[in-house]
Amino acid sequence: MITDQYAVMGNPIAHSKSPLIHAAFARATKQELVYRAILVEPGEFFTAVANFRATGGKGLNITVPFKGEAYSVAEILSARAKRALAVNTLYFNPEGYIYGDNTDGIGLVRDLTNNLGITLSGCRLLLIGAGGAARGILDPLFSAGVQSIFIVNRTAERARELAVAFTDLGEIAGGGWSELPPGHFDLIINATSASLIGEIPPLPEDIITGTVCYDLMYSTSRTPFLSWAHLHGAKRIADGLGMLVEQAAESFYLWRGIRPATAPLLSELHNRLETR
Ligand code: ATR
Repeated sequence: MITDQYAVMGNPIAHSKSPLIHAAFARATKQELVYRAILVEPGEFFTAVANFRATGGKGLNITVPFKGEAYSVAEILSARAKRALAVNTLYFNPEGYIYGDNTDGIGLVRDLTNNLGITLSGCRLLLIGAGGAARGILDPLFSAGVQSIFIVNRTAERARELAVAFTDLGEIAGGGWSELPPGHFDLIINATSASLIGEIPPLPEDIITGTVCYDLMYSTSRTPFLSWAHLHGAKRIADGLGMLVEQAAESFYLWRGIRPATAPLLSELHNRLETR
């Protein structure tokens, strides 16, 4: 019998940690599977998924820039994927359908609550950014009990539109840098891609003091946003490595029906990177 095949598809993909993470989960849970990284060229996503499936593939993780196309290819969508308009996990289920899920938001919530010990219930949250990454985490954050969210974004209109799309879930508003509401935020999440080019969103420095700051991105060194937050007195800083491991665990659970422990792997990765 062929060993069950899984993979992550994206572009670029060479530095993805997903193969390492899923191999560690498979060892720890004694699951027989193969998990690899597949580089997909623009315009080739649908063919790549069909080929992978035709050769016995059981499930896929999908990363930048294909989460929207993965949403289109799915025949059945989870509620959280529908809300995110993006899919990061595909599962070719035994009934013959392509099931699409989005485990990014629940991965973030698990990292915040289980790994970092942050109380989300009643939390006043500032979300920086209004793109796909921001959209994907709103539903799980409200489900976890967050009380209010203000979305601040370079393009104010985009923040307002995103807030309007989620008003049924709770207290939410959006605007530009100059429209920040007064008062203290319990948690600030950076969901922009500004760190990629070494930029920091232009927020007033005093907003950071005594606040937990989280960057959805991670890197081998502290992200520019987290360095800035640390410098200006953040209560705590954390990058998205924990979210990455937790979203992987949720995908693994969907595929295999077993939830792997995340703490041992996460502490091993943190020891290697020393960014927290
Ligand atoms: P993703 O899927 O990663 O969220 P995206 O949909 O392109 O990618 O969204 C990127 C987000 O980062 C947006 O909120 C973007 O702001 P705009 O809506 O104004 O484009 C934000 N962003 C990107 N570069 C930025 C920068 N240098 N400074 C501030 N915000 C930035």
